Amino acid sequence: MAKLLAVNVGLPKDVPWQGRNVHTGVWKQAVTGPRMVRRLNIDGDGQGDLAGHGGEHRAVLVYQIDSYRHWQKEFGRDDFVYGQFGENFTVDGLPDDEVCIGDRYRIGEAVFEVTQPRVTCYRVGLRMEEPRMPSLLVSHRRPGFYLRVLTEGRVEAGEEIVKVASGPEGVTVAEIDALLYLPGHPRDQLARALRVPALSPGWKGSLQALLDQDEGVPGKPAGNVGLASAGPPPAWGGFRPLRVARIDAESRSVFSLTLAAVDGAPLPAALPGQFLTFRLRPDTAGPPAIRSYSMSGRPGSACYRISVKQEPRGVASGYLRAHLRVGDVLDVAAPRGTFTLRAGDSPVLLVSAGIGATPVLAMLHALAAARDPREVWWLYGTRDGAEHPFAQESRDLLARLPNAHEYVCYSRPAPGDRRGVDYETAGRISADLLDGLRVPRAADAYLCGPPAFMHELPAALASAGLTPSRIHTEIFGAGPALTPGLTNVAARPVHPPAGPPGPGPAISFARSGLTVEWDPSYASLLELAEACDVPTRWSCRTGVCHTCESGLLSGAVGYSPEPVEAPSEGDVLICCSQPRDDLVLDL
Ligand SMILES: Cc1cc2nc3c(=O)[nH]c(=O)nc-3n(C[C@H](O)[C@H](O)[C@H](O)COP(=O)(O)OP(=O)(O)OC[C@H]3O[C@@H](n4cnc5c(N)ncnc54)[C@H](O)[C@@H]3O)c2cc1C
Ligand code: FES
Repeated sequence: MAKLLAVNVGLPKDVPWQGRNVHTGVWKQAVTGPRMVRRLNIDGDGQGDLAGHGGEHRAVLVYQIDSYRHWQKEFGRDDFVYGQFGENFTVDGLPDDEVCIGDRYRIGEAVFEVTQPRVTCYRVGLRMEEPRMPSLLVSHRRPGFYLRVLTEGRVEAGEEIVKVASGPEGVTVAEIDALLYLPGHPRDQLARALRVPALSPGWKGSLQALLDQDEGVPGKPAGNVGLASAGPPPAWGGFRPLRVARIDAESRSVFSLTLAAVDGAPLPAALPGQFLTFRLRPDTAGPPAIRSYSMSGRPGSACYRISVKQEPRGVASGYLRAHLRVGDVLDVAAPRGTFTLRAGDSPVLLVSAGIGATPVLAMLHALAAARDPREVWWLYGTRDGAEHPFAQESRDLLARLPNAHEYVCYSRPAPGDRRGVDYETAGRISADLLDGLRVPRAADAYLCGPPAFMHELPAALASAGLTPSRIHTEIFGAGPALTPGLTNVAARPVHPPAGPPGPGPAISFARSGLTVEWDPSYASLLELAEACDVPTRWSCRTGVCHTCESGLLSGAVGYSPEPVEAPSEGDVLICCSQPRDDLVLDL
C-alpha cells in the first residue's frame, strides 16, 4: 500500500539568482498535523508563477521517495529533505512507470486525479543546486506528477494512499512524459494518450500538435512541434545572392523590391506570411546591417517581393531607398516564420496598419489565387491616401473572392481623400471599431502593425469573442520576452555586453539589430543574449522544453548539454548551445 510520507508547503519568495531575483514557490517545508487541500492549493502553499505552475490541473505536485534514493546515489548526496524537489506530497510508492494519467486516489478525506507529469522548469534546478535537473528528470524518466483535487479535505503525513479508480487507456506518467519530450512520438501512442479525459488541457494541446504534424504533411519539420511551432525547413542555409529585378513605389514612403535568382531559375515557394532576412552593407567599412522584411507578393511566383517603409534616419531602409538599383545583388536568407495562413473553412480576418500590411497582403494574394470560398475581411488602417500602399492591388484581390469585406481607416485624411471611396472612417482601427463591425467570432485572425496597434488589437479581438489561440500576430522587431519568475527585469534597449569584446565569432541578433563578439565565458547563447538585454524566452534552460527555440539564420552551433530532442531544422535551442562560427539569430 502506498503511503504519504510528507505534506510540504511553501509560499513564494524572492531568491537571488545570477544577479537577479526569482519569485518562486519551489522551496517547500514538511508540516505536521492535518492540512486542508483545496481545489487550487493546500493551505499554506502557493506558486510563484501561475503561468507555469499551479491552477486546477496542477494543484498538488507528487514526488516519490524511491526517486530521492535514485538522485542521492546519482549525485552522491545525503542532504535531501522532504520537499527537496518542490513537491507537495512526498510518497512511498506510486512510481512514475506505474501511475497512469486519470488514476484516482483517496488520501485522508480528499480524492485526487493524476493529470500530467511535472513541468520542466529551471526552478527545480535552482532548488537542487543542479542546473541540469529539468533535463535529468526527463531523461531518467522520473518526473513526478501533478494531481487535480476532486474532493477537498484534510490530509496528513503517514496516511495510506488508496487507489479508487484506474485511468482509461493505462498511459503511465513516465510514458506520457517521454511521448512529449523524447524523440519518436509514435502516432498510436499519441492518439491513445489523447483519449484520456483527465489529461490537462496544456498537454492535450501539445500532443494534438504532434499528432496533427504526423498527418504526413510534405516538408514536415523535424524538431518538436508539441513544444515549439515550426515552419517547413528553410529552402537554403545561410545567405544566398538574389538579384533586384524591379523597384516600385507603393506610397509616399513605401517601395517594393522584386528579387529573382541570379541565374533566373524560379525561387523556392514560400508560405503566405513568411519573411526574408537581408545582410546589407550600408557602410562598407562597418559591420553588416541585418534586417527582415515580410514578403508581400503572391506566394508561389517565380520571384519574391518585399515592401519597405523608409524610416526617418533608418539605416537599412534609407540605404535601400537611396542606393539600390535594378540589377544589384543582395544577400538573402531563406523564407522563414510561422505567421502563416492556416488551411480551413473558418472566416479569415486580415487586420493590419501601416507597413504591417505586407505579410497579410501575401495571405490575401494566396486566398485570391485560390478563389478561396472563405469569408475574408481586409481591415486596414493608415494615415491618409498618400500613405496608403497597395490600395488598388488589395481591392483587385478582394474582388476575386466570393465572400470579401473591406474596411479602411485613415487616421488623418488629407483634403483630397474621399470618404466612402478611398476610406470608410476617419480614425484608427480600434476595439470600438471592431465591436461595431461585428466581425465573425469563429474566425482566424492575422494581425500586423505598429506597437500600439499590436498592444491593443489582439486583446480587443479576444474580448470580441475570438479564440485567443486563433489570433495570430507578427511583430516587426524583437518579440516579447518570457522570463518565468524573474522579478527585477526592466525592458532596456539592447547593448553590447559589459567589458571588452570577446575573442569569439560575431553573433548577430537580427530583430534587435545588434552584433557582438562571443566570449567563451558564457555558458550559452542565451547567457550572451541576456548580457545584452536582447529579449529572450526560456523555461528549463537545459534543452528540454524548447521554449527558447529561435531561428538560426546562418552559422552553426554545438550543444552542451545535448538537448533531449533536436530543434527543427534551421532553428537553435539557445539555452544549451554555443557558436561554431559567426551566427545570425532571429532574435
Ligand atoms: C519579421 C519581420 C518582418 C518585417 N517586415 C517588414 C516589412 O515588410 N516592411 C518594413 O518596412 N519593415 C519590416 N520589418 C522591419 C525591418 O526589419 C526594419 O526594422 C525596418 O526597416 C527599420 O530598419 P532601419 O535599418 O531602416 O531602421 P534602424 O536604423 O534600425 O532604426 C530603427 C528605428 O529607429 C529610428 N532611428 C534610427 N536612428 C535614429 C536616431 N538617431 N534618432 C531617432 N530615431 C532614430 C528609425 O527612424 C527607425 O524607426 C520587419 C521586421 C521583422 C522582424
Ligand atoms: S529553455 Fe527549455 S529548451 Fe531552452
